[in-house]
Amino acid sequence: MRTIDWVDGAVEIIDQTALPDTERTLRLSTVDEVIDAIQRLAVRGAPAIGVAGAFGVAIAAREFAGEPDALSSAVLRLETARPTAVNLARGVRLAAAALATGPEAVLEAALALRDAEVTSSAAMASLGADLVTELCGSSPRLLTHCNTGGLATVTGGTALGVVAELHRRGGLGGVIASETRPLLQGARLTAWELGRLGIDYRVAVDGAGPFLMARGEVDAVILGADRVCANGDVINKVGSYAHALGARAAGIPFIVVAPESTVDEHTPSGDSVEIEDRAADEVLHFGTTRSTPPGARAINPAFDVTPAALVTAIVTDTRVLRPAP
Ligand code: MRU
Repeated sequence: MRTIDWVDGAVEIIDQTALPDTERTLRLSTVDEVIDAIQRLAVRGAPAIGVAGAFGVAIAAREFAGEPDALSSAVLRLETARPTAVNLARGVRLAAAALATGPEAVLEAALALRDAEVTSSAAMASLGADLVTELCGSSPRLLTHCNTGGLATVTGGTALGVVAELHRRGGLGGVIASETRPLLQGARLTAWELGRLGIDYRVAVDGAGPFLMARGEVDAVILGADRVCANGDVINKVGSYAHALGARAAGIPFIVVAPESTVDEHTPSGDSVEIEDRAADEVLHFGTTRSTPPGARAINPAFDVTPAALVTAIVTDTRVLRPAP
């Protein structure tokens, strides 16, 4: 299963808005379609949107051939379709750097990024599983947040790739998927992936995480990142910070798994990251049903900042960083 790929001259994605009930593929052949899919989270997760952005430039090179102003504007719209995950801007810039060479070179760059993310996932799974075993011993019971599996990458995953690798090694004691309000990436997507992998799991509401840790039911928190800052601050799905505080209070490791493409040496700390604010309706409704009184207002940051001091380790595809003293 590939979450995103280039097939017969267009981008194909698994439509993540339809999961877990419906498994369908969307074909994207214009820049507007790619941007819309990124903004609606039909394709989501830092590495996956990086690849989507790069493929988007390949589409733009064809769609706006001979129109340099329109092409530049399309590249900028792709780059800024979502602000928080560094992978999107990086993927777009990487592909756009080949524009001067020609459309084939742009596509080659995008395909190379796709392949690099596949390779990274495999490397993180192995390094991460070794680290979890080192920190927690055999059969660790893990809690994860948001979705960091193949759906968030191209195939494999970041933190969920580590969970899958531990399962393959016969060394997983259990996994709790934190539901991830308001769009339920944990309950809908992580649960769907774990089921397909044949891994037993339980879903918990986000607020239960720190209490489950305090009650001794979790040996480590493991999740992904949308941006790792130069000082080790980690930007990830809103709710991650609460899990980090819970992990610190319970004295258990808080492990972040993210490819080098998510590590941003140009962002000094979490203070400098634009946190995406999403539509109030995502909070004011549960699914399609309004769950708040008429006139209720909402605040909806899609991500939060976990300070480096709360992070036990960051596993990339090439190294293990240990920001916490
Ligand atoms: O808003 P989303 O669903 O794109 O957010 C995704 C996350 O926060 C993931 O945890 C993150 O991208 C890491 S996944 C490899």
